[in-house]
Amino acid sequence: MAKRTTTFICQACGAVHNRWAGKCDACGAWNSIIEEVSEAGAAPVASGGARLKKGRVIALEGLAGTPMDAPRLPAGINELDRVTGGGFVKGSVILLGGEPGIGKSTLLIQAAARIAKSGARVVYISGEESAGQVRLRAQRLGLGDAPVELAAETHVEDILATLGNGEAPRLVIIDSIQTMWTDAVEAAPGTVTQVRAAAQGLIRFAKSSGSAIILVGHVTKDGQIAGPRVVEHMVDAVMSFEGDAAHHFRILRAVKNRFGATDEIGVFEMAGDGLREVPNPSALFLGARDASVSGTAVFAGMEGTRPLLVEIQALVTPTALGTPRRAVVGWDSNRLAMILAVLEARGGVRLGQHDVYMNVAGGFRINEPAADLAVAAALVSSLADTPIPPQAALFGEISLSGLVRPVPQAASRLKEAAKLGFSEAILPEGVKDNAASAGLTARPIERIADLVALVAGGAPRSRSRGE
Ligand code: TYD
Ligand code: MG
Repeated sequence: MAKRTTTFICQACGAVHNRWAGKCDACGAWNSIIEEVSEAGAAPVASGGARLKKGRVIALEGLAGTPMDAPRLPAGINELDRVTGGGFVKGSVILLGGEPGIGKSTLLIQAAARIAKSGARVVYISGEESAGQVRLRAQRLGLGDAPVELAAETHVEDILATLGNGEAPRLVIIDSIQTMWTDAVEAAPGTVTQVRAAAQGLIRFAKSSGSAIILVGHVTKDGQIAGPRVVEHMVDAVMSFEGDAAHHFRILRAVKNRFGATDEIGVFEMAGDGLREVPNPSALFLGARDASVSGTAVFAGMEGTRPLLVEIQALVTPTALGTPRRAVVGWDSNRLAMILAVLEARGGVRLGQHDVYMNVAGGFRINEPAADLAVAAALVSSLADTPIPPQAALFGEISLSGLVRPVPQAASRLKEAAKLGFSEAILPEGVKDNAASAGLTARPIERIADLVALVAGGAPRSRSRGE
């Protein structure tokens, strides 16, 4: 008889413990350890007792052989295809993570319909909604006529039997991996053990049949793909679908991609008729801008190969508290603390008695240090109550010494700024020559003190208040 073993597994990080505890030692999560029972006989690892079977000899190959070209299946949705690297690769598995309600199912039914209409076999398995609900949504999106094959099912063995029946589908969508369960393990659906085993079964099917599989995974509030964290290393690509509930646009990012770049983003807008592509995101993020107020700066950023202009807003007000407040949305708070310290130490700007609020307009999130200069300018502009020239775009990294350092892809940033009607660039000294070729007037900055002088009145511009 197969031996039953009981283990305690942290649902947050997958660490295995011998006994239950309130807190996981490995990741520090509270109340995340769950008891899971497994049949030793069913586990893929042979336990000590049985004699190991003798393996068979497998053929080894060299790197120089004819490479199997990675045939891709483009969705025909540019913003999605850019992120996947040109389409879904045959036999690959993608994990699509995102908060509940962000639009994962909507995006995938739209992609599924497009691909099915192009003639490829597409199967959509929903573990969360009934087939009727999926159909209703598709019809509302005007996709009712697409030949997508639908099923509402959560049992992996049944799904695999269905998929293996007849011509292998080109694309399979599993919505979501947390709802799937397999007979191979005894744990409850949604637990790490179940999610891992279900994913393993589906991945094996993808590799053997050549179908591309997309697994949907929900993320927790702190941004981790719950449970499926343990699946991340098993799949070929991990994508996250992000957005702000208060805003309409959504961003698709590749977190890991074995077949493409990871710094590309796709931008969508959630409308009444589903997700719409946003081919020119800068115009969206700069949408309703009031350039005459102090404390706003336009950052010429990059997302992968694509330039993206966003507005950075800062508000600096005298504090009523012993410890001033620092609140930041859309940027790293440690990075903000660093900029504040450099402004104090190298720029002579006193902020110790001020609350500082910083926001990236439109709910966008910036990861680049190239935003330093624009952030510093917005802070100084708010403190001095002097608007930054509205026709100027900014970029540059600030070092702890107060030096403004060049950043990559200056030419693309400047070209995008020129395209959107900007005529000046406040940029690092080292890349100032790029401005002229893009048709912009350069305002080179060598040190942070130069920026403070430029923004706060070294060259006095029309002050918004006349005092
Ligand atoms: P959904 O795709 O179900 O999210 P997920 O699968 O990530 O949980 O999206 C649900 C939200 O999207 C829902 O709150 C309503 C909104 N939505 C629209 O605004 N327009 C639409 O056309 C659709 C289909 C959804
Ligand atoms: Mg869904």
